Amino acid sequence: MGFISGNPPLTRPDATFAVPTEIKYGIGKVGNLTVELQLAPDLAERTRLAVFTDAGVAAAGLLDVVRQAFADSDYTIVAVMDDVPAESDTEYVKRAAARLNEAQVSLIVAVGGGSVMDTAKISAVIAAYGGEASEYEGGFMVPGPITPILAIPTTVGTGSEVTLAAVVKDNVQRRKLTIASPFLFPRMAILDPNMVATLPAKLVAWTGFDALTHAIEAYSCVEREPISAALALSAIELIADNLEAAVREPGPTEARAKMQYAATMAAMAFSNSPVGAVHAIAHSVGALFGVHHGLSNSIALPFVMEFNLPAVATYYAAVARAMGIADTGQSTEALATAAIAAVRELKQRCGVPMQYREVGVPTDADTAAAITDLTLEDICLSFNPVKGEREDILALVMRTL
Ligand SMILES: [Fe+2]
Repeated sequence: MGFISGNPPLTRPDATFAVPTEIKYGIGKVGNLTVELQLAPDLAERTRLAVFTDAGVAAAGLLDVVRQAFADSDYTIVAVMDDVPAESDTEYVKRAAARLNEAQVSLIVAVGGGSVMDTAKISAVIAAYGGEASEYEGGFMVPGPITPILAIPTTVGTGSEVTLAAVVKDNVQRRKLTIASPFLFPRMAILDPNMVATLPAKLVAWTGFDALTHAIEAYSCVEREPISAALALSAIELIADNLEAAVREPGPTEARAKMQYAATMAAMAFSNSPVGAVHAIAHSVGALFGVHHGLSNSIALPFVMEFNLPAVATYYAAVARAMGIADTGQSTEALATAAIAAVRELKQRCGVPMQYREVGVPTDADTAAAITDLTLEDICLSFNPVKGEREDILALVMRTL
């Protein structure tokens, strides 16, 4: 029996695992960007750059770090989108797409968290193929390649630097659109601990819980894939060991560097072994009330684990072992329950709220119904190990409020 995983049964007779993104990591890697591009034959001549980022990243001086990396080189920044909203939307990606075409951009540099990287991906799709983001919703709707993306994450959670997915808010329908396509994998990801050194403590905590959610959902979803499962378990162990220290201490610390790796590994996992009900609820609350994605996930996570526990106790028992809970011969169910308690304890130590009411979401019946309706439409729900009727999902949503 595997020490951590317990060698749980395979759930799929066949599967695909793919992450084509080249990953470079180390302190100061961003300073070497032009060298990294020169070493990549398909990128070396792509000298017209667009940079996507947001106001917080720019204010932290990280946009300047990237500009500096390209100064006095053959690479020219011909477009800058430095105001990507925290909840990026379908209007923004249309404007950005037009800008990419006007400036004849040949390489996109995305410097930021999930919203920035996802906005870069979807803008590149519209720049290449036109239309609206909603036309590409779902899986495999992007018809072909897009302008290559160099992704530089500045958080420790989203993992969009190595995924085939992108999420954007539909302004008209007030819901999140998820687009998944092999053409959305960034070409290269740069993990530089200097880029998360000044990340505020609460964003380390929220994005760290996004990564933990990716790992736990990928490890226990209905399309569970074994290579992803191994990555997910390692990510869970790294997060359990390092998130609290990463929250407490700024700087390019070992804890923050390990959280970067964990987030990327968890994302490699969920790109091949999809997330479930936590993300479906988190997307819905995010679309209706603007709650940060990682924060929203962190609130829904333990409640969804309780909901799923009867179907996936074996997997949650492995999560418990990865989180450092001693296996002293207790039952699988007892270990699985201990995993949920460990998630709540880690939240407490990192100062993360337990229910949506603490972040301003109303608790009335209409709110619960509206969140439930959106959750039922979210593609992620279809990968959750427990299905449930509308009344079951409504009851689950009400517990999170
Ligand atoms: Fe996520």
